[in-house]
Amino acid sequence: MKIVGKFPNIRLRRVRNSAWIRRLISENNLSINDLILPIFVRDGKNKVEPIKSMPGVNRYSVDKLNLIMKKAKKYKIPMVALFPYTQKNKKDKYGTEALNKNNIICKSLKFIKKRYSGIGVMCDVALDPYTSHGHDGIIINKKIDNDKTIEILVKQALLQAEMGCDVIAPSDMMDGRVGAIRKALDKRNFQNVSILSYAAKYASSFYGPFRDAVGSRKNLKSDKKTYQMDFRNLNEAFREISLDVKEGADIVMVKPGMPYLDIIKNIKDNFKIPVFAYQVSGEYSLIKNGIKNKLINEEAILESLMAFKRAGASAIITYFALEIARKIKKF
Ligand code: PBG
Repeated sequence: MKIVGKFPNIRLRRVRNSAWIRRLISENNLSINDLILPIFVRDGKNKVEPIKSMPGVNRYSVDKLNLIMKKAKKYKIPMVALFPYTQKNKKDKYGTEALNKNNIICKSLKFIKKRYSGIGVMCDVALDPYTSHGHDGIIINKKIDNDKTIEILVKQALLQAEMGCDVIAPSDMMDGRVGAIRKALDKRNFQNVSILSYAAKYASSFYGPFRDAVGSRKNLKSDKKTYQMDFRNLNEAFREISLDVKEGADIVMVKPGMPYLDIIKNIKDNFKIPVFAYQVSGEYSLIKNGIKNKLINEEAILESLMAFKRAGASAIITYFALEIARKIKKF
Protein backbone atom coordinates (compact mmCIF):
# COMPACT_ATOMS: atom_id res chain seq x y z
CA MET A 1 0.00 0.00 0.00
CA LYS A 2 1.34 3.40 -0.95
CA ILE A 3 1.00 6.17 1.61
CA VAL A 4 0.38 9.38 -0.33
CA GLY A 5 1.05 12.90 0.81
CA LYS A 6 3.32 14.63 3.24
CA PHE A 7 3.03 17.11 6.11
CA PRO A 8 2.32 20.05 6.06
CA ASN A 9 0.39 19.69 2.78
CA ILE A 10 -1.53 16.90 4.39
CA ARG A 11 -3.10 17.36 7.80
CA LEU A 12 -5.30 14.42 8.65
CA ARG A 13 -7.17 16.42 11.24
CA ARG A 14 -8.91 18.23 8.40
CA VAL A 15 -10.97 15.05 7.95
CA ARG A 16 -11.60 14.84 11.69
CA ASN A 17 -12.35 18.39 12.67
CA SER A 18 -16.10 18.14 13.09
CA ALA A 19 -18.73 15.52 13.71
CA TRP A 20 -20.23 15.91 10.23
CA ILE A 21 -16.96 15.23 8.41
CA ARG A 22 -16.17 12.32 10.72
CA ARG A 23 -19.54 10.84 9.79
CA LEU A 24 -18.76 11.17 6.08
CA ILE A 25 -15.29 9.72 6.44
CA SER A 26 -16.28 6.80 8.70
CA GLU A 27 -15.23 3.47 7.17
CA ASN A 28 -17.40 1.24 9.35
CA ASN A 29 -20.75 1.58 11.01
CA LEU A 30 -22.70 -0.49 13.45
CA SER A 31 -26.37 -1.04 12.75
CA ILE A 32 -29.17 -3.01 14.33
CA ASN A 33 -28.68 -5.49 11.47
CA ASP A 34 -25.41 -6.52 13.10
CA LEU A 35 -26.84 -7.55 16.46
CA ILE A 36 -27.79 -10.90 17.94
CA LEU A 37 -29.31 -10.87 21.42
CA PRO A 38 -28.52 -13.77 23.78
CA ILE A 39 -31.31 -14.70 26.19
CA PHE A 40 -31.03 -16.98 29.23
CA VAL A 41 -34.11 -19.02 30.01
CA ARG A 42 -35.04 -21.01 33.09
CA ASP A 43 -37.99 -22.99 34.36
CA GLY A 44 -40.57 -21.83 36.88
CA LYS A 45 -43.09 -19.01 36.76
CA ASN A 46 -42.90 -15.27 37.04
CA LYS A 47 -39.12 -15.24 37.17
CA VAL A 48 -36.81 -12.48 36.04
CA GLU A 49 -33.65 -13.40 37.86
CA PRO A 50 -30.57 -11.18 37.72
CA ILE A 51 -27.27 -12.95 37.02
CA LYS A 52 -24.82 -11.62 39.58
CA SER A 53 -21.68 -11.85 37.48
CA MET A 54 -23.40 -10.24 34.47
CA PRO A 55 -24.89 -6.93 35.66
CA GLY A 56 -28.01 -6.05 33.68
CA VAL A 57 -28.56 -9.58 32.30
CA ASN A 58 -31.40 -11.77 33.59
CA ARG A 59 -32.71 -15.28 33.34
CA TYR A 60 -36.36 -15.40 32.24
CA SER A 61 -39.03 -18.01 32.83
CA VAL A 62 -41.07 -18.66 29.68
CA ASP A 63 -44.07 -16.65 30.93
CA LYS A 64 -41.78 -13.62 31.25
CA LEU A 65 -40.07 -13.91 27.87
CA ASN A 66 -42.38 -11.26 26.44
CA LEU A 67 -40.55 -8.68 28.52
CA ILE A 68 -37.34 -9.07 26.57
CA MET A 69 -38.83 -10.27 23.27
CA LYS A 70 -40.99 -7.15 23.01
CA LYS A 71 -37.85 -5.05 23.23
CA ALA A 72 -36.10 -7.22 20.63
CA LYS A 73 -39.07 -6.65 18.33
CA LYS A 74 -39.25 -2.93 19.02
CA TYR A 75 -35.60 -2.46 18.10
CA LYS A 76 -35.85 -4.87 15.14
CA ILE A 77 -33.12 -7.18 16.43
CA PRO A 78 -32.79 -9.79 13.64
CA MET A 79 -32.08 -12.83 15.83
CA VAL A 80 -32.01 -14.00 19.44
CA ALA A 81 -29.85 -16.82 20.83
CA LEU A 82 -31.31 -19.02 23.55
CA PHE A 83 -29.33 -20.50 26.43
CA PRO A 84 -30.81 -22.65 29.19
CA TYR A 85 -30.26 -22.61 32.92
CA THR A 86 -30.94 -26.13 34.09
CA GLN A 87 -31.95 -27.04 37.62
CA LYS A 88 -29.38 -29.23 39.40
CA ASN A 89 -31.77 -32.15 39.82
CA LYS A 90 -32.26 -32.32 36.05
CA LYS A 91 -28.57 -32.73 35.28
CA ASP A 92 -26.85 -36.07 34.82
CA LYS A 93 -23.68 -37.57 33.34
CA TYR A 94 -25.21 -37.85 29.88
CA GLY A 95 -27.02 -34.53 29.69
CA THR A 96 -30.28 -36.40 29.17
CA GLU A 97 -32.35 -33.27 29.71
CA ALA A 98 -31.02 -31.93 26.38
CA LEU A 99 -33.25 -34.46 24.64
CA ASN A 100 -36.38 -33.81 26.69
CA LYS A 101 -39.18 -32.53 24.46
CA ASN A 102 -40.39 -30.37 27.31
CA ASN A 103 -37.10 -28.88 28.32
CA ILE A 104 -36.80 -25.16 28.76
CA ILE A 105 -35.29 -24.58 25.30
CA CYS A 106 -38.14 -26.43 23.58
CA LYS A 107 -40.74 -24.48 25.55
CA SER A 108 -39.04 -21.17 24.82
CA LEU A 109 -38.68 -21.98 21.12
CA LYS A 110 -42.39 -22.75 20.81
CA PHE A 111 -43.32 -19.62 22.74
CA ILE A 112 -41.13 -17.33 20.64
CA LYS A 113 -41.80 -18.81 17.22
CA LYS A 114 -45.55 -18.57 17.77
CA ARG A 115 -45.51 -14.92 18.77
CA TYR A 116 -42.44 -13.44 17.08
CA SER A 117 -42.26 -15.16 13.71
CA GLY A 118 -40.21 -12.33 12.20
CA ILE A 119 -37.30 -12.83 14.56
CA GLY A 120 -34.75 -15.58 13.96
CA VAL A 121 -33.94 -17.94 16.81
CA MET A 122 -30.65 -19.73 17.22
CA CYS A 123 -29.92 -22.45 19.76
CA ASP A 124 -26.69 -23.85 21.11
CA VAL A 125 -25.96 -27.48 20.45
CA ALA A 126 -23.77 -28.69 23.31
CA LEU A 127 -24.39 -30.61 26.50
CA ASP A 128 -22.72 -28.43 29.13
CA PRO A 129 -25.88 -26.80 30.53
CA TYR A 130 -27.30 -30.28 31.08
CA THR A 131 -24.38 -32.41 32.31
CA SER A 132 -23.55 -32.91 35.98
CA HIS A 133 -19.84 -32.43 35.15
CA GLY A 134 -20.35 -29.29 33.07
CA HIS A 135 -18.58 -30.59 29.96
CA ASP A 136 -19.97 -30.19 26.44
CA GLY A 137 -19.75 -33.91 25.76
CA ILE A 138 -20.16 -37.17 27.61
CA ILE A 139 -17.26 -38.73 29.46
CA ILE A 140 -16.18 -42.29 28.83
CA ASN A 141 -12.98 -43.63 30.40
CA LYS A 142 -12.22 -40.17 31.76
CA LYS A 143 -12.22 -38.66 28.25
CA ILE A 144 -14.79 -36.58 26.43
CA ASP A 145 -15.95 -39.14 23.90
CA ASN A 146 -16.16 -37.33 20.57
CA ASP A 147 -18.16 -39.82 18.51
CA LYS A 148 -20.60 -40.89 21.22
CA THR A 149 -21.25 -37.24 21.98
CA ILE A 150 -22.05 -36.56 18.32
CA GLU A 151 -24.85 -39.14 18.44
CA ILE A 152 -26.50 -37.14 21.21
CA LEU A 153 -25.82 -33.76 19.60
CA VAL A 154 -27.53 -34.90 16.39
CA LYS A 155 -30.64 -35.74 18.41
CA GLN A 156 -30.45 -32.43 20.24
CA ALA A 157 -30.22 -30.55 16.93
CA LEU A 158 -33.15 -32.47 15.44
CA LEU A 159 -35.28 -31.73 18.48
CA GLN A 160 -34.47 -28.03 18.23
CA ALA A 161 -35.33 -28.02 14.51
CA GLU A 162 -38.61 -29.77 15.25
CA MET A 163 -39.47 -27.08 17.80
CA GLY A 164 -38.92 -24.33 15.25
CA CYS A 165 -35.28 -23.37 15.68
CA ASP A 166 -34.04 -21.46 12.62
CA VAL A 167 -30.31 -21.63 13.23
CA ILE A 168 -28.62 -24.61 14.84
CA ALA A 169 -25.41 -23.52 16.49
CA PRO A 170 -23.09 -26.34 17.56
CA SER A 171 -20.79 -24.84 20.20
CA ASP A 172 -19.45 -28.14 21.50
CA MET A 173 -16.28 -28.38 19.37
CA MET A 174 -16.54 -32.12 18.73
CA ASP A 175 -14.85 -33.12 15.45
CA GLY A 176 -17.26 -34.00 12.67
CA ARG A 177 -20.47 -32.83 14.30
CA VAL A 178 -21.43 -30.29 11.64
CA GLY A 179 -21.48 -32.98 8.93
CA ALA A 180 -23.45 -35.37 11.10
CA ILE A 181 -26.00 -32.70 12.01
CA ARG A 182 -26.39 -31.48 8.41
CA LYS A 183 -26.96 -35.03 7.19
CA ALA A 184 -29.56 -35.75 9.86
CA LEU A 185 -31.37 -32.44 9.26
CA ASP A 186 -31.57 -33.06 5.51
CA LYS A 187 -32.80 -36.59 6.02
CA ARG A 188 -35.65 -35.26 8.12
CA ASN A 189 -36.52 -32.54 5.57
CA PHE A 190 -35.04 -29.69 7.54
CA GLN A 191 -33.11 -28.42 4.50
CA ASN A 192 -33.99 -24.86 5.40
CA VAL A 193 -32.63 -24.99 8.90
CA SER A 194 -29.19 -23.34 8.93
CA ILE A 195 -26.04 -24.31 10.75
CA LEU A 196 -23.97 -21.64 12.42
CA SER A 197 -20.88 -23.43 13.53
CA TYR A 198 -18.83 -22.23 16.46
CA ALA A 199 -15.89 -23.25 14.29
CA ALA A 200 -13.08 -21.35 15.96
CA LYS A 201 -13.95 -21.56 19.60
CA TYR A 202 -11.07 -21.19 21.99
CA ALA A 203 -10.66 -22.69 25.46
CA SER A 204 -11.02 -19.35 27.18
CA SER A 205 -11.16 -17.80 30.61
CA PHE A 206 -13.61 -15.26 29.28
CA TYR A 207 -16.56 -17.68 29.56
CA GLY A 208 -16.67 -17.54 33.36
CA PRO A 209 -19.82 -15.44 33.86
CA PHE A 210 -21.71 -17.45 31.20
CA ARG A 211 -21.03 -20.61 33.17
CA ASP A 212 -22.67 -18.91 36.17
CA ALA A 213 -25.59 -17.97 33.95
CA VAL A 214 -26.24 -21.54 32.80
CA GLY A 215 -25.27 -22.99 36.17
CA SER A 216 -22.30 -25.07 35.04
CA ARG A 217 -19.40 -23.24 36.69
CA LYS A 218 -19.39 -25.09 39.99
CA ASN A 219 -19.82 -28.46 38.29
CA LEU A 220 -16.89 -28.00 35.96
CA LYS A 221 -13.78 -29.36 37.66
CA SER A 222 -11.38 -29.22 34.71
CA ASP A 223 -10.80 -27.09 31.64
CA LYS A 224 -12.04 -27.72 28.09
CA LYS A 225 -8.64 -27.72 26.44
CA THR A 226 -8.95 -31.18 24.91
CA TYR A 227 -11.75 -30.05 22.62
CA GLN A 228 -11.76 -26.26 22.48
CA MET A 229 -8.91 -24.51 20.67
CA ASP A 230 -5.52 -23.50 22.05
CA PHE A 231 -5.30 -19.73 22.24
CA ARG A 232 -1.81 -19.78 20.77
CA ASN A 233 -3.07 -20.94 17.38
CA LEU A 234 -4.22 -19.25 14.19
CA ASN A 235 -3.49 -21.84 11.48
CA GLU A 236 -5.54 -24.36 13.36
CA ALA A 237 -8.51 -21.99 13.09
CA PHE A 238 -8.23 -22.23 9.28
CA ARG A 239 -8.36 -26.01 9.53
CA GLU A 240 -11.38 -25.87 11.83
CA ILE A 241 -13.18 -23.45 9.53
CA SER A 242 -12.48 -25.33 6.32
CA LEU A 243 -13.60 -28.62 7.80
CA ASP A 244 -16.85 -27.10 9.07
CA VAL A 245 -17.56 -25.37 5.77
CA LYS A 246 -16.98 -28.63 3.89
CA GLU A 247 -19.31 -30.37 6.32
CA GLY A 248 -22.06 -27.86 5.60
CA ALA A 249 -21.75 -24.87 7.92
CA ASP A 250 -23.59 -21.85 6.48
CA ILE A 251 -21.98 -19.36 8.83
CA VAL A 252 -18.97 -19.66 11.10
CA MET A 253 -18.36 -18.10 14.47
CA VAL A 254 -15.22 -16.90 16.17
CA LYS A 255 -15.32 -16.90 19.94
CA PRO A 256 -14.40 -15.11 22.20
CA GLY A 257 -14.43 -11.79 20.38
CA MET A 258 -12.08 -9.00 21.29
CA PRO A 259 -8.94 -11.06 22.01
CA TYR A 260 -9.47 -12.88 18.68
CA LEU A 261 -9.98 -10.08 16.16
CA ASP A 262 -7.00 -11.34 14.16
CA ILE A 263 -8.80 -14.65 13.68
CA ILE A 264 -11.93 -12.93 12.37
CA LYS A 265 -9.90 -10.80 9.98
CA ASN A 266 -7.83 -13.70 8.70
CA ILE A 267 -10.84 -15.90 8.13
CA LYS A 268 -12.74 -13.13 6.39
CA ASP A 269 -9.78 -12.42 4.11
CA ASN A 270 -9.19 -16.06 3.26
CA PHE A 271 -12.67 -17.56 3.00
CA LYS A 272 -15.42 -15.45 1.55
CA ILE A 273 -18.07 -16.67 3.97
CA PRO A 274 -20.20 -15.00 6.63
CA VAL A 275 -18.29 -14.78 9.91
CA PHE A 276 -20.03 -13.94 13.17
CA ALA A 277 -18.27 -12.85 16.33
CA TYR A 278 -19.28 -13.60 19.90
CA GLN A 279 -18.52 -10.89 22.42
CA VAL A 280 -18.64 -13.33 25.31
CA SER A 281 -19.78 -12.98 28.88
CA GLY A 282 -16.34 -12.14 30.33
CA GLU A 283 -15.87 -9.34 27.82
CA TYR A 284 -19.33 -8.03 28.62
CA SER A 285 -18.86 -8.11 32.37
CA LEU A 286 -15.43 -6.49 32.26
CA ILE A 287 -16.71 -3.60 30.15
CA LYS A 288 -19.93 -3.30 32.15
CA ASN A 289 -18.12 -3.26 35.49
CA GLY A 290 -15.56 -0.84 34.09
CA ILE A 291 -18.36 1.56 33.21
CA LYS A 292 -20.15 1.03 36.53
CA ASN A 293 -16.96 1.79 38.41
CA LYS A 294 -16.23 4.79 36.19
CA LEU A 295 -12.94 3.32 34.96
CA ILE A 296 -14.09 3.78 31.38
CA ASN A 297 -17.06 5.59 29.89
CA GLU A 298 -20.10 4.24 28.12
CA GLU A 299 -18.76 4.84 24.64
CA ALA A 300 -16.49 1.85 25.25
CA ILE A 301 -19.44 -0.34 24.29
CA LEU A 302 -19.66 1.10 20.79
CA GLU A 303 -15.88 1.05 20.48
CA SER A 304 -15.72 -2.61 21.43
CA LEU A 305 -18.43 -3.52 18.92
CA MET A 306 -17.00 -1.44 16.08
CA ALA A 307 -13.78 -3.45 16.39
CA PHE A 308 -15.71 -6.49 15.14
CA LYS A 309 -16.97 -4.55 12.14
CA ARG A 310 -13.45 -3.41 11.30
CA ALA A 311 -12.21 -6.98 11.54
CA GLY A 312 -14.91 -8.04 9.08
CA ALA A 313 -17.59 -9.70 11.20
CA SER A 314 -21.05 -9.78 9.59
CA ALA A 315 -22.83 -9.90 12.94
CA ILE A 316 -22.07 -9.92 16.63
CA ILE A 317 -23.64 -11.85 19.47
CA THR A 318 -23.53 -9.40 22.33
CA TYR A 319 -25.16 -8.97 25.71
CA PHE A 320 -25.13 -5.25 24.88
CA ALA A 321 -27.51 -5.80 21.94
CA LEU A 322 -30.53 -4.02 23.42
CA GLU A 323 -28.54 -1.28 25.11
CA ILE A 324 -26.67 -0.41 21.94
CA ALA A 325 -29.76 -0.77 19.74
CA ARG A 326 -31.46 1.89 21.86
CA LYS A 327 -28.49 4.21 21.29
CA ILE A 328 -28.23 3.53 17.56
CA LYS A 329 -31.91 4.42 17.19
CA LYS A 330 -31.33 7.80 18.80
CA PHE A 331 -28.52 8.86 16.44
C1 PBG B 1 -21.41 -23.83 25.71
C2 PBG B 1 -21.18 -22.39 25.52
C3 PBG B 1 -20.30 -21.56 26.22
C4 PBG B 1 -20.53 -20.28 25.76
C5 PBG B 1 -21.52 -20.36 24.76
N1 PBG B 1 -21.88 -21.68 24.62
C6 PBG B 1 -19.38 -21.83 27.35
C7 PBG B 1 -18.32 -22.81 27.24
O1 PBG B 1 -17.96 -23.30 26.16
O2 PBG B 1 -17.79 -23.17 28.30
C8 PBG B 1 -19.88 -19.03 26.27
C9 PBG B 1 -20.59 -17.77 26.01
C10 PBG B 1 -20.19 -16.62 26.86
O3 PBG B 1 -19.22 -16.68 27.65
O4 PBG B 1 -20.86 -15.59 26.75
N2 PBG B 1 -20.74 -24.73 24.95
